[in-house]
Amino acid sequence: MNIRDLLNHKVQQAMLSAHIPFQHPPMVSPSKKPGFGDYQANGAMGAAKAMKTNPRELAGEIMRHLELDGIAEKVEIAGPGFINIHLAPEWLSQQLGKAADDTRLGIAPVAEPQTAVVDYSSPNLAKEMHVGHLRSTIIGDALARLLSFQGHQVIRQNHVGDWGTQFGMLIAELEEQLAENREATMALSDLEVFYQQAKRHFDEDPAFADKARDYVVKLQSGNSDVLALWEQFRSVSLDHSQEIYEKLNVTLRPEDVRGESFYNDDLAPLVAELEEKGLAVEDQGAKVVFLEELADKDGNPSPVIIQKQGGGYLYATTDLAALRFRAGELGANRLMYFIDARQSLHMQQVFTVARKAGFVGENVSLEHHAFGTMMGSDGKPFKTRSGGTVKLAELLDEAAERAAALVREKNTELSPEAMTEIGRKVGIGAVKYADLSKTRTNDYVFNWDAMLSFDGNTAPYLQYAYTRVRSIFRRAGVQPDSLSEAIQLVESEERALAIKLLQFSEALDQVARDAMPHLLCTYLYDLASLYMRFYEACPVLKDGVPAELRASRLRLCDLVSRTLAQGLELLGIEVMEQM
Ligand code: ARG
Repeated sequence: MNIRDLLNHKVQQAMLSAHIPFQHPPMVSPSKKPGFGDYQANGAMGAAKAMKTNPRELAGEIMRHLELDGIAEKVEIAGPGFINIHLAPEWLSQQLGKAADDTRLGIAPVAEPQTAVVDYSSPNLAKEMHVGHLRSTIIGDALARLLSFQGHQVIRQNHVGDWGTQFGMLIAELEEQLAENREATMALSDLEVFYQQAKRHFDEDPAFADKARDYVVKLQSGNSDVLALWEQFRSVSLDHSQEIYEKLNVTLRPEDVRGESFYNDDLAPLVAELEEKGLAVEDQGAKVVFLEELADKDGNPSPVIIQKQGGGYLYATTDLAALRFRAGELGANRLMYFIDARQSLHMQQVFTVARKAGFVGENVSLEHHAFGTMMGSDGKPFKTRSGGTVKLAELLDEAAERAAALVREKNTELSPEAMTEIGRKVGIGAVKYADLSKTRTNDYVFNWDAMLSFDGNTAPYLQYAYTRVRSIFRRAGVQPDSLSEAIQLVESEERALAIKLLQFSEALDQVARDAMPHLLCTYLYDLASLYMRFYEACPVLKDGVPAELRASRLRLCDLVSRTLAQGLELLGIEVMEQM
């Protein structure tokens, strides 16, 4: 059930019956203030302005045609022409009953599923994954989960950096270390260290540097020995990433990897095609597309180099090939990129060239969902104390340890195994939620104490709220699915909670549209807070509560726990029965 969609539809019908042209939207949204109904339709004002009539009268006309029998108990006009809709408690009860009986909580799959290609995580394989990749991985995964829950076809693409000149140096180094009888997994157990060794070797030993350069050429021309070394390097590095995805409870799998190397053979034809179409021109030996669309303030077009003077291709060339593949071969209607805001110009350039070249149909949506930087407490990009990059694996282990220590303080009766397990779920959940709950486009400060707090808009707070709701069933000795009594909305706290529960699908729609997971976090936090208020005001298991009311309240509790669990799952955060 999506109340907002339903009311938008009903009000639109009424507007048409009132001879208001279709282009004027009903503008239904949840009311912000108590006393103004549950939902408001604000479209009369805009329509009246365009039609040059009195907005309040027009609102009255819409109201006369509005058919909300059984849905609303009262509809009234306020101020200059707001239509306030008060929903009928019986109707709300009915909707809640349907949600409670449905494993999908009453949320039907979308009528017109799209094919969404979601590009996220996408680390460079030459180095260890670091915190810079954390945001892309977490946010992209939340969107992939959410879109697929809604019934869209989601194709995850891990566009790893597995190609380019630096691989010449890396595989030359790997070859030497293998010759010294080291296993590849040993040599590459710490990619950061390995990279430094290779770099030093390259800088200090001219013969090695020559070999590295030779290997770049051999790699590109498909020499099988060099390719085999590259494969080894690639596979060990991908294993490192995969380990992190599993730790992080991220849904990326090896089959989602389609790295830069995949597009190698497409690059030459792509450049040729852009030249044929008159988009790419030769400029000082390089091939460049000049974009008037993205000209700077002095009117100089923005140059996109797609082939270097020496013949090499660039990040943008590969991205153009990937984009064309995704729209063409994968049949995407929606291409979503979760990449750092610092790559905004790059993405704009790629999108603009792709549109001009006709690589995508007009109705395919190209979306760069940028995010800000994760900062340390000093307000600078997050680094280790000594200024190095923070390794993700270590950060996640620390999160789990810190959380386990907290849980140990709170609940001393848990077994050591249970504590470790809970610590992992809470710690990882905290790191993810801290990221997801911030407005995506902003920078944010990484802060252990804030993210691990049991108060406020945090993962531990929501996970704890979930365990508290679930504990009621243990105390009552009742299985939620044994209940079939009608849900009654007696107190105002019950009603407020009911409406929030029924707004879950509206929250999901918003997140899906704007790729803004913090909206789902806010929703879940509000839901948990309304639940606490309900719990204070409405006794459930106390003596003297009539059996039917008790059952009704238990069913509300059940819906709350399932909505929390489902919402957190879409964010990639696990819940547990106790903590
Ligand atoms: N490998 C790149 C980096 O680490 C990110 C790739 C993002 N995806 C893309 N299609 N460009 O900066």
